[in-house]
Amino acid sequence: MQNKNNLDLFEDVEINDTSGHIQKQINQLTKDLIKYNHFYHDKNQSLISDEEYDQLFRKLQNLETKHPEFKRKDSPTNIVGGQVLTEFTQEHHIIPMLSLNNIFSDMNEKNEELKYKELIQFNKRICDSLNTSNVTYLACPKYDGVAISLLYEKGILIKALTRGDGFTGENVTENIKTVKNIPKLLSEKTPPKLLEVRGEILIFKDDFSKLNTQQNEHGIKQFANPRNLASGSLRQLDSNITANRPLHFFAYSIAQNSKDIEFKTFHEQLQYLKKLNFDISDYCQLAHNLPELIHYYESILHKRNNLAFGIDGVVYKVDKITNQEELGYVMRAPRFAIAHKFPAEEIESQILDIIVQVGRTGALTPVAKIKPVFVGGVMVSNATLHNQDEIQRKDIRISDYVTVRRAGDVIPEVVKVNLNKRSSHAKAFTMPQTCPVCNSHLIKEEGEIIIRCSAGLYCDAQKKQTISHFTSKLAINISGLGEKIVNQLVDSNLIHTPADIYTLTFEKLEPLERFGKKKADNLIKAINKSKITTLARLIYALGIRHVGEATAKDLALNFGSLDKLINAPINELLEIHDIGEVVATSIVDFFSEKHNLQIIEKLEHLGLTYTKTNLSSKYHQNISNKTFVLTGTLVDYSREEAKAIIEEYGGKVTNSVSKNTDYVVAGFEAGSKFDKANELGITIINEAQFKNLLK
Ligand code: IVH
Repeated sequence: MQNKNNLDLFEDVEINDTSGHIQKQINQLTKDLIKYNHFYHDKNQSLISDEEYDQLFRKLQNLETKHPEFKRKDSPTNIVGGQVLTEFTQEHHIIPMLSLNNIFSDMNEKNEELKYKELIQFNKRICDSLNTSNVTYLACPKYDGVAISLLYEKGILIKALTRGDGFTGENVTENIKTVKNIPKLLSEKTPPKLLEVRGEILIFKDDFSKLNTQQNEHGIKQFANPRNLASGSLRQLDSNITANRPLHFFAYSIAQNSKDIEFKTFHEQLQYLKKLNFDISDYCQLAHNLPELIHYYESILHKRNNLAFGIDGVVYKVDKITNQEELGYVMRAPRFAIAHKFPAEEIESQILDIIVQVGRTGALTPVAKIKPVFVGGVMVSNATLHNQDEIQRKDIRISDYVTVRRAGDVIPEVVKVNLNKRSSHAKAFTMPQTCPVCNSHLIKEEGEIIIRCSAGLYCDAQKKQTISHFTSKLAINISGLGEKIVNQLVDSNLIHTPADIYTLTFEKLEPLERFGKKKADNLIKAINKSKITTLARLIYALGIRHVGEATAKDLALNFGSLDKLINAPINELLEIHDIGEVVATSIVDFFSEKHNLQIIEKLEHLGLTYTKTNLSSKYHQNISNKTFVLTGTLVDYSREEAKAIIEEYGGKVTNSVSKNTDYVVAGFEAGSKFDKANELGITIINEAQFKNLLK
C-alpha cells in the first residue's frame, strides 16, 4: 500500500523544531492533525501511521500544556474524532463514545523504571486519586478495528452506530445485522429492557489475506489493511456487500443498561456479555498491581504476531465501576482507562534498489525497493528512506539487509542496517541534482531536510494532484471536475496544467469514455462559470506550498491583485501578520519559477478573472471577529457557502462548540453541537436569524 500518496505525506508531517516559533508549531500541528482526523474518520484513509499520529498528538498536547495561550479552539486535543459521513443517518450517542489516552514504553531502555515510566505514572495517578496502594485493572488487547455501539431493547438489536465524532455516529444497523457473530436476539429468557454493548469490528488476518488474494486474481486493487477494510465494509450503502465481508465483533464493555441488571465491575460485565453469546477475547484478564500490568503487556506483545487478529496495544481499565465514576473524565478521554500502545512491527529484508519519488508538493522521497516481506498481514515491497540525511545517518546502501518497520500499518520505513550482512558490493546512493520527473531545479528550504522540485504546476508528477487541487471546492470550484475526471483528462493528453482546463471544448470532451453530450455540456458550463473567481481562491488554487486557504485570504486582502503579489519582495510579504519566513520564501520561490508564471499568464489569457478584493468591505459589525459553529442542514446555503460568507466578513468557523463560540447556527436535524451549545449557554440561531445577522 506504499504508494506515492502515502510517502508524499511525510512532507506535511515535518515540523521545524529549531525555529522557536511555538505558536507556529501549534498552528501547524493543529492543522495537520485536523487533516489526518478528517481523512481517517471520514474517508477511511490513514495519511500517516498511528504511531506518528500519536507522536504528533502528544507533541501538540505538550506544547499546549506549556503554552496554553497559543492553544487553538479547534485543537484536536479538545475533540474525540472526525466528522460524520452524510450517506447514513446520523444519530446521537446517548453516552458519548470517547477515545483513550495513550501511553508508550521505551523498548530500548533496560531499566524497568524508565522503560515503563508512563505506565508507572498512570498507575500512581490512579492510586493517588483513589487513595489506595493497589488497584485492580481489567486488561484487554486493544483491537485494531472499528468501534461500534449496539443497542438492544428487550433483547432485540434495534440500532448500531459507528463512533463518528464521538457524540454522533452513523446508523449502520442493517450492515451490522449481517455480522455473523453479533447476536440479533439475546438468548436470555427475560432480557434486560435496555443494553448498549460496545466493541470493535475487525477482520481476521487470514481472512484479509484470502480476500486480497482473490482481489489480485480478479485483477482488482488490493485492500490497504484489515482495519480500513472493516471500516469500509461497514460503510457500504448496500448491505449485501457487507454481508460478504468476513467481519468479526469483539465486545469490550457495556455503555448503559436498564436497572433490571447490575454490575459492580468491568469483568462482571464481560462475563455477562459472554453468557449472552458475545465474543470476548480470551486474552482479557485481571491485573492486581503494577507488576501484573507489566507482565500482561509483555505477554500480549510477545503473542501479538501469532494472534488471529490485529492489535495495536493493550487497554487497562480500573475494574471497579464506582471507582470509575469517581475518577471521571478529562476532555476527550476517561481518567480510569488508558491504552498502552505497542511499538511498530519490525522485520528484516534486503534493499534491491533505491528510487526517488516526487510527491504532490514536489517533495523528493527516496524509497527502497525491498525483497517483499509480510509485515502485519500486508506484503511490503517499498519502504521509505525519508531523505538523504537519513540515508547518510543510517549509512544505508543498495543490497544492504535492513530492518523494515511498518509503523502503524501504513507507511513502511527502513529503520537500520544489519552491517554484519553487508556485502562488499553494497552501493552508496545519492539524491539526483534535478527533478527526476521534469528536470527542473530543486529547492531546499533553510532548516528543512526535504528537497523539492521547484516546477510546481509544470512537473508531471505533480500535475494530476495540482490540477485536482486547482479545481477543488475551496479553490476555483469547478463542479464535475473531480479527481477521477482530472486523471482521465490528463491521461487522454487533453490537459497538462490548470490553464489547459480553459482550452477544453464540448467537441474534445463529448467523445471521451463515460462522457456523452450532457456531461460534456455540463462540464463546459461549469468551466465557463469558474472563470470569474476571487483573488483569494485563485491564490489558494495555485497550490503554493504553505499557502492554505487562510493565508491565501490574507494575501488577497493585503495585495489586492495577483500582479502585486507576484512582484512582492520578501520583506513586504514578511510584514503581513501570520506570514513568516518559511511561507514568504515559498511564495517567492513559486513565482520565481518561469513555468509557473507562464501558466498564470495563460490562465489570464484564457479569460480567468477575479473580483477585486477590498479591505473595507470585509468588515461586518455582526460577523467580524466572531466565532461560529455550523450544525445541521441549512436550506439556502451549503456548509461551505455559509463558512465562506462568514469568513469573507472576517468571522471564524470552527468545528466544535466551546465557551469561546459566539453563535451556533442550527439548521435541520442539528446534532450534538446544539445540545452542547445549550449546555454552555451559547447563543443558538436558526437560518432566518443568521440571514438577519448578515443584513
Ligand atoms: S475500552 C472510554 N477496550 O480504542 C473508552 N477500547 O482509543 C473505553 N478499543 O474507540 C474503551 N480495543 O474503540 C476499549 N479492549 C478495548 C479496546 C478499545 C480497542 C478502541 C475503542 C476506542 C479506542 C480508543
